[in-house]
Parts: sequence; structure tokens; C-alpha cells
Amino acid sequence: MPITFEPFETDWQQDPYPLFQQLRDEAPVHWAPQAKAFCITRYEHVASILNDPTLFKADSREYRLQRAQAKNSKRTQVALIIRMLRAVRVPPWRFASSRMLIQVDGESHRVMRNVVNRGFTSQRIAAWEPRIRALANGCVESFSKKERFDLVEELAVPLPVGVICAMLGIDAERRHDFKRWSDQIIQSVGGAFAIDQVDGKAVEAIGELRAYLAPIVRDRRRDPREDLISTLVDHRSAGGLSDLEILLFVMLLLVAGNETTTNLIGNAVDTLLDHPDQLARVASDPECIPGLVEESLRFESPIQYRLRIATERTEIAGTEIPQGALVVAMLGAANRDERRFPDAHRFDITRDTRGHLSFGFGPHFCLGAALARLEASVALETLLPLLSGLARVTPEPTWVASTMVRGHRRMDLMQTTRP
Ligand code: HEM
Repeated sequence: MPITFEPFETDWQQDPYPLFQQLRDEAPVHWAPQAKAFCITRYEHVASILNDPTLFKADSREYRLQRAQAKNSKRTQVALIIRMLRAVRVPPWRFASSRMLIQVDGESHRVMRNVVNRGFTSQRIAAWEPRIRALANGCVESFSKKERFDLVEELAVPLPVGVICAMLGIDAERRHDFKRWSDQIIQSVGGAFAIDQVDGKAVEAIGELRAYLAPIVRDRRRDPREDLISTLVDHRSAGGLSDLEILLFVMLLLVAGNETTTNLIGNAVDTLLDHPDQLARVASDPECIPGLVEESLRFESPIQYRLRIATERTEIAGTEIPQGALVVAMLGAANRDERRFPDAHRFDITRDTRGHLSFGFGPHFCLGAALARLEASVALETLLPLLSGLARVTPEPTWVASTMVRGHRRMDLMQTTRP
């Protein structure tokens, strides 16, 4: 019987893994008629697609624009584009030629990545550890006295948002606004990193974010500090970012960096609660935390897929992929491929997880991987004294309503033993 699987429909979200296994075994290159896309589930194929930007380009704007056009009327679409251009205050030709790191390939990507990378070197990230620890301690202290709390709201969300605010040098009194802009932008693009597909509310948020950032960018150009904006501004003359590209990059950080890390922390705790043996192990030995973070990433990938477009006619596992076809590289399925990870459905914090694809692979490999790893490790370490005494209030998970993102909207926990 042919397998029914549509990557953009949420019906598989509850328990995708048996379906992924069937796809890997019987239809590793699966045609999804509604999405009009080829879905790729084996590790070997997903890794080679992500690693070959010449054959599979990252820029899928044209495809997404077509989908947006199919969803909105032409008038709504044009009105949104005009509002967007007003919000970012640039003429259409400048907007069209502005680069967004995650959507460019080749030399253009390399140059841009070199610039932004300076804010994310391992040294720079390690220097944030005390700040991350202080933020995590503050969160855990405030809910450790409660009998019940929502882990997502009280730790997994505020920690990455607090860190990115600190990195960008956002004033403490504007953090609530920043969180609101961030939420509105993220809700609109649905975790798709599709900045060009925003709705009206997000356009307003982008306008406010631009108005907030513009004087900071001007100021940092005159008087650089130790923050990320200064790093981006500082390299403008060396083929660096325009003001609009800085805005787009900050938006990318919000979308690519916040919810993903939130979901990593939530997924790690949720999976531990289902595996008391692994929980006992980490509770007795905090040295296991880095292994726990990597295995959680592999086991429940916070980003389930990335999109690519075939630049020429090609073939995967004997199936022809026409030029211009949309390809869905299923990270979450590849991470459970038994051909790559023996006994892949077993959650084992001591296993060799090297090569998992949760941060992508190749030239677009996650810029914030070291930061995400550090934040998740610190969050779990800070939570450690409470972990063994925690239980779910309700058994059913509430998944984020996006198939690209895998994570919990909320996670109500209770303390069965007081610390
Ligand atoms: C657990 C947390 C995270 C996960 C699972 C994750 C996942 C990913 C994935 C899969 C990609 C590759 C996209 C592609 O190939 O199309 C990516 C790229 C990216 N990520 Fe992350 N990410 C996380 C955290 C972060 C953080 C904390 C930041 C920054 C604050 C960040 C910034 C970026 C950026 C800027 C890119 C684009 C890189 C490029 O195109 O060269 N991410 N991320």
C-alpha cells in the first residue's frame, strides 16, 4: 500500500517515528502531492543534500512565495508587501537584493558567514557562561518553591530570550517589547525561517524592531562596544552587512535561535521523564549532561526538516528529481536511521551521537550550535537537584503547532518530593 505522508500537515506529529521508519525502508524518496515535494528520510541522503549547495540550493523563497500567493488573495499579498517595505523603510530593489544568511549559498554565503561568525566563536560563546548561569539560576530559584510550574514558561523560554537580549545589548526595560516582537515574528513564520512570508502583526513588530535597532546601529558605528551589534557593524566595510541585513540577521537569530533552544530544553526534560534509568544516571553523575544534550538533540530533533531546491535534474536512490523540485530533508527521520545509529530508537545518553543532523550539516551548519549546547547544558545542570522529584501533571504532550518545529507549547510539572 502506498504511504501517505504530507510534511506540512500536522497529523503525523504525535508519534512520527514508526512512519519515518516505514518511509526510510520502503520509500526513502517519497513524493508528497499536496506539498509538491520530495521527502528524504535516510541519513545518507539527507546529509549529502545539505552538504551540496550546488545541486540543492537553500534559497526556497520562490516556492514559499507561490504558497503564500495561493493562501492570500493578490490584494492581501500586495498590501502586505507594501506594509513590509514601509516597516523596514527601504526601497523594493534594496529589499530584494538584501542577503539573508540562511537563504544564500556560495561565495555570498561564505563572505557573510565570516562576518557574523565573529560573534559566535567558541571563545566568545564560552565568555557568556557566567551570564547564562545567572539567568538559569534566577529562573530555577523562582519556580523551585512552587508545587506546580510550567517548565516552558518558567525556564525554557526566558533563558534563550534573556541570553540573546544580553548578546545584542538590549536594555533591560525594553526586554518585554523585544520578547513581544520576537513572539509575533516567530508566530507568523511558524518556525519556517520564512521571513518573507510574514503576516500583518509581524510586519508591525518588524517595524518596531527596526525603529529600536536603527539608532543602536548608528551609535555602535560611532562608538563600538563589546556586543554583537558592534561586531556586525564593525565589519561593514569588509564586505559586511548593510543596516537592513543587520535587521534581517537579528530577526533570523530570533527565529532560528530562541524557539529551537526552548524546544531542546523541553524535549530533553520530557524524554528524561520517560526514561527513569537515564534520569537516575544523569542525576548521579552531572558529567553525563553533554551526552544527554546530544542524545536529546538526536532523539527528538527540535527542527524536523529543512527545505532545498534542486538546481538541476538529478537522482536520489534511483528516483528522478527534476530541476526546480522542492526537496524536504527530514532531519528528525535521518537521526533515527538504524543504518547510521544502531538501535536508533533507544534513548541512551552514553551513545556515540557524532554526526547527528539536528544542527544541519555542511555550509549552513547552525551558527548558534555552541551557544545552544551551552544554554541547554547549563539549564539541565541547574535543574538537576529538582529533576528526580519531577512528574508531569498531565500525560499528553501539547506540541507546538508547526511540523518544522518539534517541541512542547507548555509542560506542566509538579514536584513529588520537595528539594
Ligand atoms: C537547539 C537549538 C538549535 C537548533 C536545533 C538549530 C538548528 C539549526 C539548523 C538545522 C540549521 C541549518 C539550516 C539549514 O541548513 O537550512 C541552523 C542554522 C542556523 N542557526 Fe541554528 N539551531 C539552534 C540554535 C541556534 C541559536 C541559539 C542560534 C543563534 C543565536 C542559531 C542561529 C542559526 C543561524 C544564524 C543559522 C543559519 C546558518 C547559515 O545559514 O549559515 N541557532 N540551525
